[in-house]
Amino acid sequence: MEKDANEIEKLREKVFKHIFLPMRSVKWYQEVGRLKILVKGEGIRVTDIEGNTYIDGAAAWQYGAVGHGRTEIGDAIKKQMEVLAFAAPEYANLREIELAEKLAELTPGGLTKVSFCNSGSESVETAMKIAKQYHVLNGQPRRHKIITRRGSYHGATWATMNLTGVYRNALSFFEPAMPQVVRVSNPYCYRCDFKLTYPSCDLLCAQEIEKVILAEDPETFSAVVGDTVSHSNYVAVPPPEYWPMVRTICDKYGVLLINDEVICGFGRTGKWFACSHWDVVPDIMTFAKGITSGYIPCAGAIATTKVAKVVESSEELGLINFPTWGGNPNSCAGALANIAIIEREKLVGNSATQGNYMLEGLKDRFSNYPIVGDIRGIGLLLGVEMVADKKTKALFPPEVKFPFRAFAKLESEGILARDFESTILLTPPLCITKSDTDEIINIMDRVVTGLAKDLGI
Ligand SMILES: Cc1ncc(COP(=O)(O)O)c(C=O)c1O
Repeated sequence: MEKDANEIEKLREKVFKHIFLPMRSVKWYQEVGRLKILVKGEGIRVTDIEGNTYIDGAAAWQYGAVGHGRTEIGDAIKKQMEVLAFAAPEYANLREIELAEKLAELTPGGLTKVSFCNSGSESVETAMKIAKQYHVLNGQPRRHKIITRRGSYHGATWATMNLTGVYRNALSFFEPAMPQVVRVSNPYCYRCDFKLTYPSCDLLCAQEIEKVILAEDPETFSAVVGDTVSHSNYVAVPPPEYWPMVRTICDKYGVLLINDEVICGFGRTGKWFACSHWDVVPDIMTFAKGITSGYIPCAGAIATTKVAKVVESSEELGLINFPTWGGNPNSCAGALANIAIIEREKLVGNSATQGNYMLEGLKDRFSNYPIVGDIRGIGLLLGVEMVADKKTKALFPPEVKFPFRAFAKLESEGILARDFESTILLTPPLCITKSDTDEIINIMDRVVTGLAKDLGI
């Protein structure tokens, strides 16, 4: 369906008139971002209404694990809709049972009991509520504080936004912040908060958690929440000792560990769940995005048997969490079909292989490049951090508007990818082939050299 330029402009005007676009100003979408209207997706590529095709280098928002155009997911949803399209959450349905059992099998040992919801934000809220209810029923109602890490992102709802350590300016609209949130450092070694270097740092970032717990009375802490590998914190892959240390600290003080795997789950980092890279089992794990690859909303929090037993120990009440669409049969059918593709096509292994190949390819080309400060990542969760000065790690001055330049350059070279400040984040669908990976590396070559040229470096 071809549309002329006039009709396309009219559609854009309708968007600006009727839809709140996320985060940025309308002016930004009109002038810098030049709002794209996407009309088609196939594999790892999307096409806009003007007929331009791009590599979906961010897998939409890191969720399109199996890529676009998987009609079998739609078929599974349709089949379910024809039999039982909806069921109130207090009744179980067959797809929900199948999915819960599958999740207990795929997640690390000990995580057995799921509460379903619809988005990553809700999954984190659910996890916080499970933790709080656990402590109250365990006879420790004073445990209400939550430790979160600066730079992490945990959601768009009011409570999860309070856990979030990003969008500092934006948060000022919603003050006062939740008083029970205590923030600590993120293990972002390239720009360590303590100006230390691994391993001689002795993992001060993990130790800080214990210091905070001790300083404020251990019996007031409910949980530590962390995105296992933080995308919002510029893909800061933690050192190998980090998560085991956090686990030990949590155990020592009776604090629950919540691993937020909303982005990292379902193969993004080259294992089904990122915490398995470090053999850590959280008390509660959140999931969303990759569970359906975005074909239909589905999310949840899964808790260990130990936690679940306490939460359900009351004679009258169970978990106080009842989102209307939690466990919706269509969502669960979509998730099961998506997981079947991930398993059949061995996409978790592919994420590890292609991710490693891309990481090495990017390092080969850019390790000595003047405006590339660091290249890091795990699986297909990768970041290229650009700097004005490699030695001092200085960022580009604000007047350079580096994020806007990078964004525009990526798009003009045919890839939709996100850049947070000066880090370009590459999180393509997990179904990419070696030749797709080569193409992305070549695009990045043109992006990075082009940016350097534009900046006169
Ligand atoms: C780590 C993490 N947690 C939670 C969320 C919130 O998920 P949603 O946008 O589905 O509400 C996100 C979203 O990007 C995320 O990255």
